[in-house]
Amino acid sequence: MFEPKPEHLTASAFEKSYSGVPPWEIGRPQPEMLRILDANVLFGHVLDTGCGTGDLALEMARRGLTVTGIDCAPTAIARASVKAAEADMPVAFLVHDALRLPDLNSRFDCAVDCGLFHVFNDKDRVRYVTGLHKVLNPGGRLALICFSDREVRDGGPRRISEAVLRESFSSGWEIATLEPARFDSLIHAGGAAAWLAIICRDDKPTG
Ligand SMILES: C[S@@+](CC[C@H](N)C(=O)[O-])C[C@H]1O[C@@H](n2cnc3c(N)ncnc32)[C@H](O)[C@@H]1O
Repeated sequence: MFEPKPEHLTASAFEKSYSGVPPWEIGRPQPEMLRILDANVLFGHVLDTGCGTGDLALEMARRGLTVTGIDCAPTAIARASVKAAEADMPVAFLVHDALRLPDLNSRFDCAVDCGLFHVFNDKDRVRYVTGLHKVLNPGGRLALICFSDREVRDGGPRRISEAVLRESFSSGWEIATLEPARFDSLIHAGGAAAWLAIICRDDKPTG
């Protein structure tokens, strides 16, 4: 499977990518995430992990959701905060490591992950998913879009297989929907192959 070099995935590398326009930025929310919003899947207080410069977070706030956006890149959070002030939208944008979600000391009804899950190596992915489970309320929902192993072009982030997604959310979660999707891109015509999933925190007792 394609593996990016670890140094490309550090917080400082992400911060550096915001010295210009990063390759994932399209100046608006990803269309697949808008589809999720249109379907009214999300409710209450929503955590946007790896929110970038905040276009999705702001769109959720416009639709009446309470939103907290976190990102490890201070420049992304600064740009998101400016957009929120200009739009007069009360979104909390915080510099925070998504591998330390319980340190937020907050609970959320839902979470969105638009392009963060595929950043993590196997060990960090487990830590991230465990943290998500801790900060979501019982019955909470996660809407996630990540790079797919069906993408054939070189470069870009780590490819995620359906099996890895199912394994990552096999305990304490129920995958409601998991379907092939596409990331929109201003750089690559046709975008990139992705997985789109709606995953619920499952608090049914097992056994
Ligand atoms: C592919 S970008 C997606 C950004 C945004 N969601 C979007 O759709 O434009 C991944 C984002 O996750 C952030 N990120 C990477 N590792 C992170 C971590 N450990 N904690 C918080 N944010 C992280 C990066 O700075 C970057 O903004």
